[in-house]
Amino acid sequence: MNAPTFTGIRPLNDCTTALESYAPLPGLGVLAVNAYLLRAPQPVLIDTGMAVLRDEFMQALRSLIDPAALRWIWITHADADHVGNLRAVLDAAPNARVVTNFLGVGKLGLQQLPTERCHLLNPGQALALGDRELLAFRPPVYDAPETMGAYDSRSGFAFTSDCFGGVLERPCASAMAVPAEALARGIALWAGIDAPWLGELDAARWRALQQPLRGLSPALLLSSHLPPAAGLDGLLFGALDAARAAEPFVGPDQAALDALARASAAAPDTALA
Ligand SMILES: [Fe+2]
Repeated sequence: MNAPTFTGIRPLNDCTTALESYAPLPGLGVLAVNAYLLRAPQPVLIDTGMAVLRDEFMQALRSLIDPAALRWIWITHADADHVGNLRAVLDAAPNARVVTNFLGVGKLGLQQLPTERCHLLNPGQALALGDRELLAFRPPVYDAPETMGAYDSRSGFAFTSDCFGGVLERPCASAMAVPAEALARGIALWAGIDAPWLGELDAARWRALQQPLRGLSPALLLSSHLPPAAGLDGLLFGALDAARAAEPFVGPDQAALDALARASAAAPDTALA
C-alpha cells in the first residue's frame, strides 16, 4: 500500500459499524484509520476520517444512514485523521451537534458555528442516546489534551481514539487475526510514536492513567488505529507497558526518507508494506 485507502465498512454488532481506512507509514507498515457509526435512537458518528478519502468516506456513510438522521458527531480529538471530513459531515447532517470539550471547540474552529451545533462534555460525563449512554473517558495514551474516548453502556464497546493503535504489516479484519508478537510490537511502536511522554511516567501514575478504561472492562476495544480487539487486554496493555519502557522513538531523517523514496520507486509494492 503506498497511498491512503478506504478499505470498507465492517458491522460490529446490530447497530455499530466501522468505516475503515488505512494509511501507509513509509518504512514501517500501515496504520488503520477508523471512524465508527452507532445507530442508536440518537445516531452518533465517532470521528470523520481522512480528508484525502472524502468521497469514499461520505459514500460509505450515506450507504449506512441518511446523514440528516445523525444527531451527534463525537470527535475524539482534533487531529487531521479524525476530523478530515468534519465540515462535509456537518453540511450533510444539519441536525447533528459536535461533541467535544472546551479545548476541542477552539482547536476545531467551531466558534463560528451556531452554539446549538456544539455539545460540551468532559471525561466522566455521559451523552444520552435514547437506549444507552456514551460515557466520555480519557484513554491512558493520547497525543492531544482534548482527547476523549467513548464507552457504550449498552454494548460495552470502548472507542479508544489513538490508544491501542498499532502499526501492522497489512490491513486485517481483527486484531485477533494478527500474530501476537507482531501485534504487540506494532502497538508498542505506535504508542512510542504517538505518546513519547509515556517514558516520563512513574509506575503509580501509569497505573492511575489506565484505571478509567480498565474499570469499564470493555467487551470490545475499538481504537481509531487498530482493527477490533476482543479478549486481548493483557496483550494490549502489555504493549503499552513495553512502549513506556522503550527508548524514545526517533523517526527517519531526510536521508532515510530519500532512500525510502528511491526504494519505493524501484519496487513500489515491497518498499512499503
Ligand atoms: Fe489518530
